[in-house]
Amino acid sequence: MSKVIVVTSGKGGTGKSTVAASLGVAFANRNRRVLLIDCDSGMRGLDIMLGVSKSLVFDIADVVSGGCKTEHIIYPCSHTQGLYLVPAPQRAEDELSPQVLEQFIESVKNQYDIIIIDSPAGVGKGFETAVYPAQICLVVANAEPTSVRGCVNVRKRLLELDKDEIRLVINRLSKRNFFKLNFYADLDEIINETQLRLIGVVPESAQVVAAIQKGVACTDDSKALTAFSRIAGRIEGERLPLAVC
Ligand SMILES: Nc1ncnc2c1ncn2[C@@H]1O[C@H](COP(=O)(O)OP(=O)(O)OP(=O)(O)O)[C@@H](O)[C@H]1O
Ligand SMILES: [Mg+2]
Repeated sequence: MSKVIVVTSGKGGTGKSTVAASLGVAFANRNRRVLLIDCDSGMRGLDIMLGVSKSLVFDIADVVSGGCKTEHIIYPCSHTQGLYLVPAPQRAEDELSPQVLEQFIESVKNQYDIIIIDSPAGVGKGFETAVYPAQICLVVANAEPTSVRGCVNVRKRLLELDKDEIRLVINRLSKRNFFKLNFYADLDEIINETQLRLIGVVPESAQVVAAIQKGVACTDDSKALTAFSRIAGRIEGERLPLAVC
């Protein structure tokens, strides 16, 4: 049975889309068939990260309006076999309802092992749609207090929505970022404040960013790749060390 995972965060720019795309690659490298669904209507970006932006014709709003068939909005990633993308609607006003997203997932889920939904920031309508069909909710924070507060708000809303599998991903970790901010003493302080269980720590990585912004696979940052691969393994129930840098 396929697992449906949503990647969220209260604050914008914490790295949700980077984590969603990199996790998609990590699962595909474990020989899983993976579908990434971009739910950031009007602000989509996963098509660039997966190297398919030039070939986009239809998006999920076109299926809903009857303009095309489901198979026309599933694009194979140009750099990773087994990874597919459903792009978000180009216009913010075409945002889906939670029920429509769930129906779409129901119609395709027997073809995929893993479905990853990239949520927009905040806890608004787009967030409610993105989290609705998900069994596992990943909340992405970095070492900034505003992003940690965002996680607290998201956790509260996810609990109200009866989500029980909620995990924390700490992204962009580096000693330099920590010392520069001089706010949290250590990772435990962040984890305690969010009251979430940690599932992974991703290092600050210029190589991941460079690859992802060019729509190619990152191959040259083994620490970051290990971090994503271990998050994928932990989601599948493996007991792996947290990749702390
Ligand atoms: N591990 C990382 N190391 C270095 N930079 C990163 C990392 N993860 C994300 N970034 C950078 O942080 C910025 C925000 O990333 P991203 O677009 O993935 O965030 P987001 O949470 O999806 O943003 P939004 O809320 O706008 O959707 C980008 O410039 C990205 O390259
Ligand atoms: Mg994003």
